[in-house]
Amino acid sequence: MKFLILCLMTLNAQNLFASQMEVPFKEPTILINSSTTKGVVEVQLTASKTKVQLIDGKFTEVYAYNDMVPGPTIEVFEGDQVIVHFKNLLPEPTTVHWHGLHVPSDQDGGPMDLVLPGASRVYSYTIPFGSAGTYWYHPHPHGLTANQVAMGLTGAFIVRAANEPLPRGIPEHLVTLTDNRFDGNSQITPSTKMDKMMGREGNVIFVNGQRSPTLNVRSGETHRFRILNASSARYYLLNLPNHSLLQIGTDGGLFEKPVSYSQILLAPAERVEVLITFNNSPGSSVEMQSLPYDRGGMGSKKTPLFRVQYSNELPATPPTIPNVLRPIDPIDTQVAVERTFTFTEDMKNLDFRINDQKFDMNRVDTVAKLGTVEIWNIKNDGDMDHPFHLHGFQFQVLNHNGAPSPYVTWKDTVNVPKGQTARFAVKFDNYRGIRMYHCHILDHEDLGMMGTLEVK
Ligand code: C2O
Ligand code: CU
Ligand code: CU
Repeated sequence: MKFLILCLMTLNAQNLFASQMEVPFKEPTILINSSTTKGVVEVQLTASKTKVQLIDGKFTEVYAYNDMVPGPTIEVFEGDQVIVHFKNLLPEPTTVHWHGLHVPSDQDGGPMDLVLPGASRVYSYTIPFGSAGTYWYHPHPHGLTANQVAMGLTGAFIVRAANEPLPRGIPEHLVTLTDNRFDGNSQITPSTKMDKMMGREGNVIFVNGQRSPTLNVRSGETHRFRILNASSARYYLLNLPNHSLLQIGTDGGLFEKPVSYSQILLAPAERVEVLITFNNSPGSSVEMQSLPYDRGGMGSKKTPLFRVQYSNELPATPPTIPNVLRPIDPIDTQVAVERTFTFTEDMKNLDFRINDQKFDMNRVDTVAKLGTVEIWNIKNDGDMDHPFHLHGFQFQVLNHNGAPSPYVTWKDTVNVPKGQTARFAVKFDNYRGIRMYHCHILDHEDLGMMGTLEVK
């Protein structure tokens, strides 16, 4: 009898315990390089429909790369030649897009280059020097992107520097932020009309596919975090109480100099690199959280992301961080053309446009000349924020929300808040061909808030 009561109590308490039980911080597996040639990274990547444990120990039907959600991390060095043998075992077409990487247009994985169900293809490109940073990969079949990403298809792509400016021995962590929504049977729920309008946000937040994991640190240590927002629409306003976030980089790699913040906004598809020096006392703990941010119409609450647990060891001596990370030359703005792209929404009719046009892959919207520099002004005439992303070329933000950018950095995604503008310079070097630019709220992209650029 006693035993039975205990069992019942355990059952009742199960949910409570599930959220309180400590999950150790874990990172996605790094994809194995099958090449033995120096400077060549050759990997196998397969997308398929499968089942994995995401919540409450139950099996959820997902779309996964190599049976993992998120997918395995691809890690390469600047200058490497990358060969990806991709197989599509999904019941629908897909592509693999290399978000932020400067690759030839026919290797970019855009919506024109579908890989049909059961088909394979090889993606192959060389990683430019100077592009060390945190990138990612995800599908891009038009109209299906949001759902395929929600079903689990996303992975990180880390490019390491030939000459790393940060001292050796700094522990490093990848933090992939995704969110999702589940029904009572732990299955991912399809998107509603509301999701399409606002951009789908889930009520469960994952850090590398785990819920509220715990990262163990020692007082005095400095850790490096590569944080990737792989969510369809959720914004994260990162904050770690009593700790500063020393930002050292963004989408296209390291800053020139570190900049200290108490909070950092991460729009969908953006990445940041931060150093955190843990100087609370041994034995204490603190929670990395996302603070409320109003992106227009979506209520957002303070949300815990992961827990940091200090060991009882005596404080370690923090490493010395260099004042200069790398030089970044501002793009020489001998400008060929200046353009304006305007985001507009008609939410009621699920009508999302750029320059009053919906995406049409048979139309070229913008033609640029190879090797020239352009200035793009992105205007948001809508009532919600839209993160603007350009494929294939990193740009330098000149002006954001009416203020000049305080320092030079490489970006591929810039958030354009409701009613505001962003202005950037971009050089179309090396590759001709067709690329996409779009809002990275994936539902908006699928609905047509996307245009094409041809570099000739
Ligand atoms: Cu993250 Cu068009 O892509
Ligand atoms: Cu992209
Ligand atoms: Cu949008």
